[in-house]
Amino acid sequence: MTAQEIRYKNNDLLLNTEEEDQRKTTSMPAKQTLTMIAAAAKNDALGKDNDLIWHISEDLKRFKRLTSGHAIIMGRKTFESMPKALPNRTNIILTKKKDYQPEGAIVARTVEEALSLVEEDTQPFIIGGGEIYRLFMDRCDRIELTRVHHDFDADVFFPSIDANKWIIVTQEDVIATNDQPYNYSYLTYEKK
Ligand SMILES: NC(=O)c1ccc[n+]([C@@H]2O[C@H](COP(=O)([O-])OP(=O)(O)OC[C@H]3O[C@@H](n4cnc5c(N)ncnc54)[C@H](OP(=O)(O)O)[C@@H]3O)[C@@H](O)[C@H]2O)c1
Repeated sequence: MTAQEIRYKNNDLLLNTEEEDQRKTTSMPAKQTLTMIAAAAKNDALGKDNDLIWHISEDLKRFKRLTSGHAIIMGRKTFESMPKALPNRTNIILTKKKDYQPEGAIVARTVEEALSLVEEDTQPFIIGGGEIYRLFMDRCDRIELTRVHHDFDADVFFPSIDANKWIIVTQEDVIATNDQPYNYSYLTYEKK
């Protein structure tokens, strides 16, 4: 698949608003769970040339299912890698730029400001990219990591997960198919 085909397919799924999964409010935790969500390769690769490097449609559908209805915090570069703000979510963009006014999104200039904007949300998500994952790693309670079992050429990488601080609480392994060529695992980490 070419980089252009990967971008087209990823954007199609990220922006699609049909058949939204309904969130069951009864299962929401009372306390806030700040959750980092990412897809990283075996070598921690996240992206290249300000874009994603693979297309795994089931992973994007899961991303949409988990994040819909919640606040999502992202870096300015990740926001600009997408055609527009993600629907059905409060998009919060971290930037130090003055007078930055992204359409359909709210700007925060510090970590503290971003966190204050999501105080009312029981499960806000940190959705990347590399700089922003690093900034929030110590503040998060949970990591939803899709680990793609393959090495990729990249220019942005996921930070290492300290095994002394984090424990895997659930793991689901997915085998490659004709539609997507990589084995991958959904790993949920929680702070020890
Ligand atoms: N695989 C995945 O799950 C995944 C998820 C998301 C993104 N990605 C990929 O990751 C790449 C982008 O990541 P990136 O690390 O280059 O950029 P990024 O984390 O998306 O954004 C970096 C920007 O965030 C702002 N920022 C950083 N620290 C800040 C702070 N302390 N206060 C205020 N603003 C701050 C700055 O914006 P200003 O320069 O405007 O000040 C900085 O340039 C792309 O390739 C994208 O496709 C992959």
